Amino acid sequence: MADPIPATAAPLDAASARKVYVETYGCQMNVADTEVVTAILTRAGYGCVGTPEEADVILINTCAVREKAEERVIGRAAQLSGLRAHKPDLTIGILGCMAQHLAASLPKRAPFVDLVMGPDSYQRLPDILAQTSNEALLDVRLSRVENYVGIDGVRKSGTNAWVTIIRGCDKFCTFCIVPYVRGRERSLDPSEMLRQVTQSASEGFKEVTLLGQTVNSYRFLQTDFADLLRAVAAVDGIERVRFTSPYPKDFTDRAIEAIADLPEVCPALHLPVQSGSETQLERMQRGYSVTEYRDLVARLRTAVPDLSLSTDIIVGFCGESDQDFRRTLELMEEMRFDSAYMFKYSERSGTAAHRKLADDVPEELKRERLREIIDLQEQISLEVNQQWLGKSVQILVEGNSKRKTEEGSPNRFGRSAHGKVVVFPEQAEANSMRSVLVDRATSHTLYGSAADA
Ligand code: 5AD
Repeated sequence: MADPIPATAAPLDAASARKVYVETYGCQMNVADTEVVTAILTRAGYGCVGTPEEADVILINTCAVREKAEERVIGRAAQLSGLRAHKPDLTIGILGCMAQHLAASLPKRAPFVDLVMGPDSYQRLPDILAQTSNEALLDVRLSRVENYVGIDGVRKSGTNAWVTIIRGCDKFCTFCIVPYVRGRERSLDPSEMLRQVTQSASEGFKEVTLLGQTVNSYRFLQTDFADLLRAVAAVDGIERVRFTSPYPKDFTDRAIEAIADLPEVCPALHLPVQSGSETQLERMQRGYSVTEYRDLVARLRTAVPDLSLSTDIIVGFCGESDQDFRRTLELMEEMRFDSAYMFKYSERSGTAAHRKLADDVPEELKRERLREIIDLQEQISLEVNQQWLGKSVQILVEGNSKRKTEEGSPNRFGRSAHGKVVVFPEQAEANSMRSVLVDRATSHTLYGSAADA
């Protein structure tokens, strides 16, 4: 490792500061965690750089939800370790859920890694990076309390501030590794949450997204999720409030009322269903039935008639019969989700499914089923998006789109309150609101021309 610097070092001048590059995989919570890591290291005097080639320390913040993600990260870390040819003192660390999951085996599987650190240990990063050792350094203790109080993430997005309000998960769905890698559920003190939101608003953020593995399970003494939504919506300068992901079983009427009442809360929900089969939901131990999910969506749609709804679906979970799978297709047709993240079941060691259920749907069949639901969802998304044709939507402008106009000039893009990505040709400043008339729709994107803001 390179020369140690004390954790408490005052910020160094740009030339002499050790430079850190962080790469992020997985969910929005990981994106938010990376912002926390960046804040902790900046405070300790590190400089942040945008490419691995410039860095003295490379950190990869990882996901363990599916096996493929883990394989990708190990491959990527191996590739990055090639940079040692020019920089022998380069430190490479693996952070986050996969670090937690594979703590014991990582040093063997990825001997080029110097540091393995779980999601609750980032406060110790400066100290640990300052140690010199030839052994890989390991810190995967999980916490029962929120240990990032007082830290405002160094935000990468210029338009949306992520605020993690609840960490960990107590649901123990049989397929899922999250409770094992992120530990027990714990909610952030509402006064700290408000401090973070107010701080973001004072930095110019108009949109805030509250984060948690089961975000609506939030409770801190007498404060529940509905109270929290009302408090955030009341913060001066915050025009849009989003949250992800709510857990179907924990949706209260009070939360539904708050969403319906508060103009700041966006009418867009990501509500993971996982399967349309009662048997499969039971095997997954989701704690709700298809009927209950259906009722919840009906209540939500009554309260917020134009609600945009997205979901997560797993195909090929243990014991999934053809009939179970048909039930999922039927539910998708019935719900007409705006969009869905769709996955093949990936067995994770340590979970209840791994211990007690056979991963018995052949890979080929999982792939076929995945193809089938993706095709169906593409068609539904297209039809749902076409309902926006001819309508005017308020966009929070994010920046330049990858796709250029026919004349080759840059398109801008932003997001509507309903969570749709909208691309339009006119110049507009990032983080400004813009009204766009939609004239074309694909299954993933709306296109239009900008009217007045
Ligand atoms: N295999 C496949 N998909 C999974 N997910 C969680 N665990 C697994 C697994 N073992 C999916 C679920 C969850 C999303 C974040 O990832 O759909 O909602």
